[in-house]
Amino acid sequence: MRQAGRYLSEYRELRVRETDFLTFCYTPDLTVEATLQPIRRYGFDAAILFSDILVIPDALGQKVTFEGGVGPVLQEIEGPKDFARLSVDRLEEHLAPVFETLVRLRKELPSETALIGFAGSPWTLAFYMVEGRGGVDGGKLKRMAYAAPDEFAKLMGLLEKALIAYLSRQVASGAEVLQLFDSWSGIADETLFRRWVIEPTKRIVKGVKECHPNVPIIGFPRGSGALATAYALETGVNGLSLDSQMPLQWIREQIPDDIVLQGNLDNQLLITGGAALDQEVRRVRQVMSGRPFVFNLGHGILPPTPPENVARALSVLRELKAD
Ligand code: CP3
Repeated sequence: MRQAGRYLSEYRELRVRETDFLTFCYTPDLTVEATLQPIRRYGFDAAILFSDILVIPDALGQKVTFEGGVGPVLQEIEGPKDFARLSVDRLEEHLAPVFETLVRLRKELPSETALIGFAGSPWTLAFYMVEGRGGVDGGKLKRMAYAAPDEFAKLMGLLEKALIAYLSRQVASGAEVLQLFDSWSGIADETLFRRWVIEPTKRIVKGVKECHPNVPIIGFPRGSGALATAYALETGVNGLSLDSQMPLQWIREQIPDDIVLQGNLDNQLLITGGAALDQEVRRVRQVMSGRPFVFNLGHGILPPTPPENVARALSVLRELKAD
């Protein structure tokens, strides 16, 4: 999950050095520093690359901007024919600063700190590419997937190809674990979910593992509810990130121990703090005790989070004995 960002004063200070967010993401001096900030402060076990999932549409040729108070805004597309202009040809060149960030991070991070690379899944990237922004219900994306499946398949195929190349290159540059964010998988019905979430993810996992058979891949099918079990069992992912709605005991019973579970703590609890936070941290740990589990949030840290609440959650966690 996002662990850097605006809740940290040191990030806000760094962020003003570059007004344009994507340019920030393409400046290794800034991205290396932003990745290291939460590690210095808290000593997390793993660092997640500072970048954004929307560097992919940008690299494919669909213009992306980030507007204050709105979030990402993408160049408008009228229909599937507009995707014919996109191309993977300049992808690796365009994303060279991301690879340089990983190379530098692997040298700068303590050896015991794992380095996580990431990308958005095809479905979630298509969400932003078709809708043009977040904060909408995804109706335009779904209608395109239902009405023009053959043309939609071309976009998804292009994204799959781009993501296999991008993620493989992240591993070659120093990423030791990969995470695929499917932040919008929860809007897909079962048919769309199987075709456009599970199937592309399965091919991406296979494609990346052809070059890097041992790299662990974590999937985050946010909002997928009961379909998360099919996702975990069919895609070949090694880890499943859980959103905050996922019933913990239930998912534990569904997923075999060779798939690591992670996440689930409600990010609002980190804003709340106090006894409510302590209690839930203990509960998550307790329900997952005795099976492979990575303690994490159910979604990224929110800007109003008091940094001392993150420290508090960690101290509760670190007091609990390892089992
Ligand atoms: O530790 C880290 O912060 C890792 C870096 C990271 C960012 N984005 C930086 C970022 C990661 C892993 C992401 C992933 C990402 N980006 C996702 C998938 C995970 C999720 O949260 O669901 C998605 C959907 C995006 C797209 C995106 N980027 C949105 C919707 C926004 C705007 C929301 C907001 O809070 O403003 C962003 C901007 C963004 N990406 C910020 C950061 C730190 C905030 C922008 C800023 O600092 O000015």
